[in-house]
Amino acid sequence: MNTEYVVIDNDNIDEDVICRAGKIIKAGGLVAFPTETVYGLGGDALNPEASAKIYSAKGRPSDNPLIVHIADIAALGKITENVPEAAYRLADKFWPGPLTMIFNKSDIVPHETTGGLNTVAVRMPSNKTALAFIKASGGYIAAPSANVSGRPSPTLGSHVLEDMDGRIEMILDGGECIIGLESTIVDLTEDTPMILRPGYVSIEMVREVLGSAEYDPAIVSGLDAHTAPKAPGMKYKHYAPKGDLTIVSGQRDAVVGYIKGKIKESEGCLKVGILATTETCPLYSADKVVDIGSLKNEDEVARHLYSALRDFDEEGIDLIYSEEFNFGQIGQAIMNRLIKAAGHKIVEV
Ligand code: TXA
Ligand code: MG
Repeated sequence: MNTEYVVIDNDNIDEDVICRAGKIIKAGGLVAFPTETVYGLGGDALNPEASAKIYSAKGRPSDNPLIVHIADIAALGKITENVPEAAYRLADKFWPGPLTMIFNKSDIVPHETTGGLNTVAVRMPSNKTALAFIKASGGYIAAPSANVSGRPSPTLGSHVLEDMDGRIEMILDGGECIIGLESTIVDLTEDTPMILRPGYVSIEMVREVLGSAEYDPAIVSGLDAHTAPKAPGMKYKHYAPKGDLTIVSGQRDAVVGYIKGKIKESEGCLKVGILATTETCPLYSADKVVDIGSLKNEDEVARHLYSALRDFDEEGIDLIYSEEFNFGQIGQAIMNRLIKAAGHKIVEV
């Protein structure tokens, strides 16, 4: 298949391009599009064949449900049942934006889209291209992140091209995703709102609106791989670069010392990459040192995480050592992704 690649300006959207993208979706095809979190791989959420194509383009297990993206709160009623009042309070505050909510699904949503579940995940993104594209496509876009299953989520159009060229009809390149980590997922089908995946919208922000919210136990036990998560996608090895990644945790000086020792050990036999902050990068001399952003700017670190992980692949790095990035608001989400990328390999020093 020939994949059409179109650069689009989020602030001056080319309506002809959006209209063509909408036609592809209505005909059952697939279009990758930018959102504020990561790029999505979109198909018609109400068309079971389109959902099946998404799984096959990604190489993703079909028990892993897709998020349905809408552009208008009025669209919620058609695809859900028993929407609690709490959902409207969260939507008021965080939609359009990086929050996904889980509801009971209506009959119109095919089980192919929800991975066989009777619940459906719904999100209204804030990216303007995304909103225009969803509207032009009939209003219901099923979209996982637009990466091949297991690879880091794409935060640039070029990442999508790397993974999806020849597999889908069209890629809309709207530049760098401003948040860079996938949306927060909150399950509203239980008595207590449950956070199934941490993201830019923190648990404190959800609690502020609803009064209560808890983490799915699988997130809290982030360091062990044995608790089954409620979001099926969270159980797979994810976000992984090709090199073998280890996180080094501890006091900064000890971390730097340990990583330097590892660089020395591998000299002459294995290619070593380091993931560090702007402040600590100059302390290392390795085959590749990637600056993820400043210690003082957690949003920058979040935005660059996936791109940084992909950078190591280009250079054929064998071993990657990463510092720990524990921040206030988005640190939980950053470390959740990094720990998965490392297959839970953490060294305490
Ligand atoms: O920011 C995002 O959410 C991005 C952009 C494209 O919107 N999308 C995204 O989709 O991250 P994906 O498919 O890579 O991750 C969706 C996650 C998976 O972990 C999946 O298991 C979970 O959402 N999920 C979807 N529907 C669910 C449901 N009904 N119940 C529980 N978890 C669900
Ligand atoms: Mg994903």
